[in-house]
Amino acid sequence: MKIIRNPAKMTAWSREQYRTGKTIGLVPTMGYFHEGHLSLMRMAGRRANLVVVSLFVNPTQFGPNEDLSAYPRDFDRDRELAAGVGVDVLFVPDVAAMYSSWEKTTVIVRDLTDHLCGADRPGHFAGVATVVTKLFNIVQPDLAVFGQKDFQQLAVIRRMCTDLNMGIEIIGHPIVREADGLAMSSRNTYLDDSLRESALSLSRGIDLARRLAGAGERSVKQLTIAIRAFINSCPETAIDYISFVNDRSLHDVTVVDEETVLALAVKIGGRVRLIDNSYVLDGS
Ligand code: PAJ
Repeated sequence: MKIIRNPAKMTAWSREQYRTGKTIGLVPTMGYFHEGHLSLMRMAGRRANLVVVSLFVNPTQFGPNEDLSAYPRDFDRDRELAAGVGVDVLFVPDVAAMYSSWEKTTVIVRDLTDHLCGADRPGHFAGVATVVTKLFNIVQPDLAVFGQKDFQQLAVIRRMCTDLNMGIEIIGHPIVREADGLAMSSRNTYLDDSLRESALSLSRGIDLARRLAGAGERSVKQLTIAIRAFINSCPETAIDYISFVNDRSLHDVTVVDEETVLALAVKIGGRVRLIDNSYVLDGS
């Protein structure tokens, strides 16, 4: 596996591959790999001849009180894990290589970013859309794989790609979970045993909503009351949002149908903010 740190060298490598007729799949990440990231890399390998993984903890998507400086990092471990799943290039630019102080351009995806995590984290999705655009321009992939765990991020990137005619196929990968249901996340490393138990309130809250909806409850108001009560009954939880939204518009709905996604953000132990989501109805 090649390690490339310089953006110009990354672009040159991709161009070289295209000359020999190869296709390239990109998996953008912020590192500290877990099975979720590795599944995305394997999927990229099935869909393209060559896999590039970018590892860049993007400062512009963190708010002033968020965990940028504490964000977990372990380059040696990441390098071994990526090599183990057959990644061809690990692209690891530093902040100075990605951003200059003269930059005046930001990519803003309107409307889709007003709800859910966009409401709690102003500027977050502009940071994500801008860095993903830069990564796309540097790596020039045919396709890119993103996780459905970050459901709103995936919707924003799909919209951006279509709106800006980027011509890159965006592939969504299902959420990879621990055996007990907890969605895998680099931030799970912040949880001790008792907080990890509290973190199960997200997936269990989703299961509860799916059970109630499966038994015929379609009222978002009633479902929200039930999930809110359940999560509040778990120690050390503080709900950021419980939202039932249409899967494409991300607008709130009042009645559950096949297109309804339940998205949750909950702070565990006062500082670890976790997200999870699922379609509410079976088979959707
Ligand atoms: P990061 O949080 O490192 O996630 C990288 C990719 O892995 C994202 O597409 C995310 O949705 C996916 N992922 C994380 N946990 C997952 C899980 N349990 N199951 C399936 N997929 C999972 O998301 C980012 O980085 C950044 O915002 C980035 C897109 C790299 C831009 O900086």
